[in-house]
Amino acid sequence: PHIVAIIPAAGVGSRMKADIPKQYLTIGNQTILEHTLSVLDKVQYINEIVLVVASHDSYLDDIKENFCRLTKPIKTVVGGQERVDSVLAGLNALPKDAWALVHDAARPCVLVKDIEQLIETCLSQNMGGILASRVKDTMKRSIKGSNQITETVSRDNLWHALTPQLFPTHQLVASIELSQKHNATVTDEASAIEFAGGQVLMCESSATNLKITTPDDLQLATLILNAKQM
Ligand code: CTP
Ligand code: MG
Repeated sequence: PHIVAIIPAAGVGSRMKADIPKQYLTIGNQTILEHTLSVLDKVQYINEIVLVVASHDSYLDDIKENFCRLTKPIKTVVGGQERVDSVLAGLNALPKDAWALVHDAARPCVLVKDIEQLIETCLSQNMGGILASRVKDTMKRSIKGSNQITETVSRDNLWHALTPQLFPTHQLVASIELSQKHNATVTDEASAIEFAGGQVLMCESSATNLKITTPDDLQLATLILNAKQM
């Protein structure tokens, strides 16, 4: 099957509180986006990459010349207001019979072997799936606006949903459109599929596959990427 990686990279990174969108911050000698691209480029099953960026993204111009170092064909499309709009923009650039592997630009620490495992599992079972990790901490709930505990939530069978998330393009497009029609809250691809009644597999990811969201995460990702290169 034809597999296309879609990389949503059109966010502003408000929680990072940096001067520029977080995917263009540098770790070592590359931007976060370039680290992410180079991991996806090494995944044997991926045929091409669709990068979703903000319109008139001048930061992209600075790194575009490095794209020739990638072995896979890459094209860029313009994203939208919310992450789901950016994902839809990417999906619209795909052949209808392709599998879409959606992976956040802000997750440069993902391992090639975990992505390959996800793809092998999904294709062999002919079902969409996501990388996920089991919850290890004790989980608490509070009421809105308070830090006081109201209950302990059992962590049995509780997982963190990560990316990449892999689905047949036509299924993902139809599921997102349905969830939008019903104003359903959709925070990842799997939640749209679930809303539409589809089934989703989870593949256990290495715990280092963090999403860079705040300045703390940037420090942690720097340690992880440096350790990888040793
Ligand atoms: N993203 C996107 N289009 C949007 C919003 C987000 O392509 N309209 C991308 C981001 O660039 C990121 C990924 O989706 O790679 C995950 O989103 P998130 O971590 O929330 O990034 P931001 O939205 O940029 O950050 P924040 O929510 O702190 O503003
Ligand atoms: Mg966001």
